[in-house]
Amino acid sequence: MSGYGSLPIPLDVEKIPMHLAVFGVTGSGKSFNTGYLIEKLVNIPKNDSEHVSYPMIIIDAHGDYLDYVNYVDENGLENLDWIKSGWIQRYVFPNIYIKPEFRRSELVKPIGINLDLLNYTELAEIIVTYFKGTTEGAEQQISGLIRVFELIREAGYSSLHDLFYRDKDILSEYVDRLQNEGFFASTIRAINNQLNEFYNLEDKYKLLSIDSPLKSDKFVDDITNNRGIAIIDFSAEGAPGVDLKTKQLVMTYLATILFNKFTEYKLNGIQRYLLFIIEEAQNFCPDRSYPIASSLAHSKLSAIATQGRKFGLSLCLISQRPSFVDRIVLSMCNTFLIHRVSPEDVSFVKSVTGGLPQSLAARLTTLDTGEVIVTGQMVTVPFPLVVKIPKEERKVKPTIGETNVVDNL
Ligand SMILES: Nc1ncnc2c1ncn2[C@@H]1O[C@H](COP(=O)(O)OP(=O)(O)O)[C@@H](O)[C@H]1O
Ligand SMILES: [Mg+2]
Repeated sequence: MSGYGSLPIPLDVEKIPMHLAVFGVTGSGKSFNTGYLIEKLVNIPKNDSEHVSYPMIIIDAHGDYLDYVNYVDENGLENLDWIKSGWIQRYVFPNIYIKPEFRRSELVKPIGINLDLLNYTELAEIIVTYFKGTTEGAEQQISGLIRVFELIREAGYSSLHDLFYRDKDILSEYVDRLQNEGFFASTIRAINNQLNEFYNLEDKYKLLSIDSPLKSDKFVDDITNNRGIAIIDFSAEGAPGVDLKTKQLVMTYLATILFNKFTEYKLNGIQRYLLFIIEEAQNFCPDRSYPIASSLAHSKLSAIATQGRKFGLSLCLISQRPSFVDRIVLSMCNTFLIHRVSPEDVSFVKSVTGGLPQSLAARLTTLDTGEVIVTGQMVTVPFPLVVKIPKEERKVKPTIGETNVVDNL
C-alpha cells in the first residue's frame, strides 16, 4: 500500500475470470506493474507448501515482457523455483524468424496462422476487414466468399488453407464461378481485390506456410494444461515492418481459436483458465469513436468478455487511452488498475469504474509514476486502494523504459 512501506494488499485470484483493465498515460507504470502482477500469477499460493501458476498469453506491443523470456533463457526454468509455469515462449513474425542473423533460442517460435481453424463466416469476415477495415456494407462480398468456400468444399478440396498459399489460381477460378450464382460483377471485383490484399499474409509475412505451434488448436490444450506463458512479440524487434492490420489479424486469429476452444471445454464440462493480456488495447479493441480501422477483433473479444466466470478465459486490457477502447468490452471488466491518466480520460475512468471517492478522483492526473489505484472485484476490501510497488520487489528488472540521456550524450 502506498505510504505503508511493504504492507501487501490481498487480491482475490478467483475474480480474475471477470476481466481486468489497466489504464494510465505512457510512462505511468502500467507495464512495470503488470509485470509485477505476472510475477505474482506465476506463483499463486495454494496452501502452505504448494504454489500454482496462471496460464497467460500476452500481446506485447512494445517488448516490455521480453525480459521474462531472456531471464528464463539465461537461468533455465528448472532452476527458478519461484516460477511455477510449465513453459514460457516468445513468438515473433516469420519474416524475422527465418533470417539467418536472428538470435535463435529454444524459447523463440514463429507466429503462424491456420485458416482451416476458422469457420467460413469468420474467414470471410477476416478477409473483408483486412482490406476494408470494416465489414459494414460488405454483406454481398461476405456471402460471395462463403459461397466460394462452399463450392471448393463441394469440389472435394480438403484444406482451404493450403489453397490460400499454394493454389491461388484454383481460388480465383471459383471466385469467377460466382457469375453463375447471381453475384454482381462489382461484388466479384471487390472480392478479388480483397483476396489480393489477403495474399500478403503469405507473400510478405510467410504467416501461412511457416511451421508454428499456433497453427494447431492443440496449442490451447498445451498452454492451459501445462500452465504456459506465450508472449506474442509485436515490438519492432519481433515484428519488423509489420503493419497494424496484420497484427490485428494475428490477435483476432488468437482470440478466435481461444474462444472456440474454451467453448468446447465448456460443452465438455472441462474447466480451464487463461489470462489474455493485451497491451495497447485501443489498437486491438478500439471503440467506434477511435479513428482507426474498426478492429477485426471486436466481435471475438466482446464474445469472450460477455462469457461469465465459468468460461475461464479472461481479458486484461491495458491502455494509455481508455476512452478509445471498446466501451462494451470495457464495461465487462470488473477489476481496474488505474495509473496517472490524461485529463481527457478522467470522466471516462470515473464512470467505467463505477465511481471513485472524491479524494482519489482528484488525484487521477497527478499520481506518481508506479502509483496505482486498485479497485473492483479482485480487491477484498470494499474501497479502492492506492498501491506502489517498490522497485526492488520486481524479481525481473525491466530493461526498457529507462533513459540515460546525459551519459549517452
Ligand atoms: N513502481 C515503480 N518503481 C520504480 N520505477 C517505476 C515503477 N513503475 C514504473 N517505473 C519506471 O517508470 C518507467 C515507465 O514505466 P512503464 O511501466 O514502462 O510505463 P508504461 O507502461 O505506463 O508506459 C520505467 O522506467 C519504469 O521502470
Ligand atoms: Mg508500457
